[in-house]
Amino acid sequence: MLVLGIETSCDETGVALYHTERGLLAHALHSQVAMHAEYGGVVPELASRDHIRRVLPLTRQILQQAGCTLSDIEAIAYTEGPGLAGALLVGASIAAALGFALKVPVIGIHHLEGHLLAPLLEPNPPAFPFVALLVSGGHSQLMKVSGIGAYETLGETLDDAAGEAFDKTAKLLGLGYPGGPALSMRAERGVQGRFKLPRPMINSGDLNFSFSGLKTAVLTLARQQTLDDQTVADIARAFQDAIVEVLAAKSLAALSQSGLDRLVVAGGVGANRQLREQLSALSARRGFEVFYPKLEFCTDNGAMIAFAGAMRIKLSAAKGWKFNVRPRWDLATI
Ligand code: KG4
Ligand code: ZN
Repeated sequence: MLVLGIETSCDETGVALYHTERGLLAHALHSQVAMHAEYGGVVPELASRDHIRRVLPLTRQILQQAGCTLSDIEAIAYTEGPGLAGALLVGASIAAALGFALKVPVIGIHHLEGHLLAPLLEPNPPAFPFVALLVSGGHSQLMKVSGIGAYETLGETLDDAAGEAFDKTAKLLGLGYPGGPALSMRAERGVQGRFKLPRPMINSGDLNFSFSGLKTAVLTLARQQTLDDQTVADIARAFQDAIVEVLAAKSLAALSQSGLDRLVVAGGVGANRQLREQLSALSARRGFEVFYPKLEFCTDNGAMIAFAGAMRIKLSAAKGWKFNVRPRWDLATI
């Protein structure tokens, strides 16, 4: 079965064609980063309008790349939520209109389920059950994943998401938007140990996170320093060391507490090199296995939505059309 996936939950338009027997046939992405950069963050109305401009040309492009036509599409999966309401409505409307015209089923996918299943697109996918560290711009959660649709929250952030902490910290260091990649590039040039920041909740005994205090600690530190290039890099390094240490410690604790030995890392912050290196090194020592999506499928993309749609259809035949968005939607409730 050929599934068209459409992702429009935030500032990236992603489309993909996933075939249940032949795998991922084509995918394309348009990032709105340049458009939002001058405002220092995502402007929801501009995001929606840009998704409208991009979805159909990108869909035509991937159909051509895959050597398919519209009539080959057998189901459509779109991001139903969570995300920006207007942006989600673009994907939902186009999915519903195409589904109606082509007489194929349309299913709504939870954006985080897409992220969570993205590592399964790789050649040696993890078997169920596994623990997933989901770290994106809007969410930070540790989940126990027992199968498609069987998600249990083990821990989550009590305030800022990990990506949000990267973005806000980058902003207050004058590194612009989006902050995660910019801050991690600076951190690579930073001297480890020049500054020491707190590791929030590392000894809390549970699997929850809190990152807003870390951001405040960076603000206090930055105010005490002259922010030359090297000092910014050293603060970025101290921030990254702290956040990576907490994420890695909690992920390993989640594995120990759940008795599982496979960890999946997903979401935009999963692209962070230091996080990947630290998780891989610690896991190897403890006999755990870590699985990552390829870098381009860590951040938002259409492939993960097409794939999650295909998995959902395998689970129960998709019927009918769906036209709904859920800007707020808890993954553990699906
Ligand atoms: O999953 P994603 O693309 O979108 C959401 O669903 O939120 O994640 C975006 C987040 C942003 O906060 C971005 O700064 C962060 O992921 N990010 C990174 C890196 N690349 C993206 N954070 C740290 N290091 C990176 N290399
Ligand atoms: Zn995302």
